[in-house]
Amino acid sequence: MKLLVIGAGGREHALAWRLAQSPRVQTVYVAPGNGGTGHTPQLQNLDVDDTEGLIDFARREKIAFTVVGPEAPLAAGIVDAFRAAGLRIFGPTREAAQLESSKDYAKSFMQRHGIPTAAHQTFTDPAAAKAYILGRGAPIVVKADGLAAGKGVVVAATLDEATAAVDHMLGDGRLGAAGARVVVEDFLEGEEASFIVMCDGHHVLALATSQDHKRLNDGDQGPNTGGMGAYSPAPIITPALHNRIMREIILPTMQGMARDGIPYTGFLYAGLMIGPGADAARSLKVLEFNCRLGDPETQPIMMRIKSDLTTVFEHALSGTLDQAEIDWDRRTALGVVLAAAGYPESPRKGDPISGLAPDTDTCMIFHAGTALRDQALVTNGGRVLCVTVLADSIRRAQQAAYDAVSQTVFEGRQFRRDIGWRALPAARP
Ligand code: AMP
Ligand code: GLY
Repeated sequence: MKLLVIGAGGREHALAWRLAQSPRVQTVYVAPGNGGTGHTPQLQNLDVDDTEGLIDFARREKIAFTVVGPEAPLAAGIVDAFRAAGLRIFGPTREAAQLESSKDYAKSFMQRHGIPTAAHQTFTDPAAAKAYILGRGAPIVVKADGLAAGKGVVVAATLDEATAAVDHMLGDGRLGAAGARVVVEDFLEGEEASFIVMCDGHHVLALATSQDHKRLNDGDQGPNTGGMGAYSPAPIITPALHNRIMREIILPTMQGMARDGIPYTGFLYAGLMIGPGADAARSLKVLEFNCRLGDPETQPIMMRIKSDLTTVFEHALSGTLDQAEIDWDRRTALGVVLAAAGYPESPRKGDPISGLAPDTDTCMIFHAGTALRDQALVTNGGRVLCVTVLADSIRRAQQAAYDAVSQTVFEGRQFRRDIGWRALPAARP
């Protein structure tokens, strides 16, 4: 069969690579793809970016099913359009994707259905937002309502920072329509984890747990990024906590969407804040929902899948996810992102890349911001590569990943040297 993956990042490279391992798959097209998906056997880039063009292609090539990577096409309704054309596609409808595309929608949804999250209010008037902030005190969090490519959240340590964020979003309109409303919510303390499930509208299948590192620099310092590295499993999610997350967050979310008349299909990613204490007593709260897989969490997660992933998607598309199972490699997978000079503010493009280790069963270099120029690989975006390995322990995974990272060279590359630190035995209580 032929499949189509929509997107251009490391997440899509990893997904397409894993799908292509299935003996049933002939070709996975990646639209538009990147320098890595362009030269992996069985993957083929497709230079089409409009929904109509993608639908025409899927029809013409008899694509068995399509999987959508990023949030933007989902929020724009690509799933609705494919379904209207009678094509199989895995993702949420435009309406369901509001769980990510509108923070206000997500917060009211959680409030309405009793899903634990930080207390909040939504504002369009800067003066009212500031008065609320003064009343709550700092630290406090200001979020643009709409999609803002990772630039929409300000975790303000002081009242001044919080009111400046309100001015930036509501006053100056710098984030455009995405910042026309802001959500102000309480600051939560704890450890973050990514909990990602597949949904078919009725049933849920949890993927392996993961954690990412959002800040640019070691020790979780510096500006927020899309994610500088990730690993799976996340040791903080014990089996007991896993059960609580399913019971207190994931299932009520699925049931709430169904009750609202918007059955949820697709990947659902709950960004969680997990408070301190014993598992039964820890506070568990949703920081955000994403209606897609995480990037870079997908890269280590895909490394650990041993099952035929096409079968899992077929169950998801037929409403029989309750019959699907994923066999996980028990080893630890860890991915280190290599970012371009200037990332995240203004990444430089066009730097030649050399020294890529050959792909093996235990070390894959997933591409994101890369392109082939005259047969040579060059940087072409903020996050360039994700060196992802599989090893017997988190420590061994770190060693193997950083060995491969040290060989991978381009001018101005930036990477964190401490990916996985929270999972090291010494960092755990
Ligand atoms: P979000 O896009 O909503 O997940 O926010 C991006 C990042 O900001 C999260 O991964 C957290 O590190 C941080 N953050 C968001 N909301 C809060 C909160 N209520 N308390 C503390 N940190 C937060
Ligand atoms: N790594 C975080 C995200 O994909 O949103």
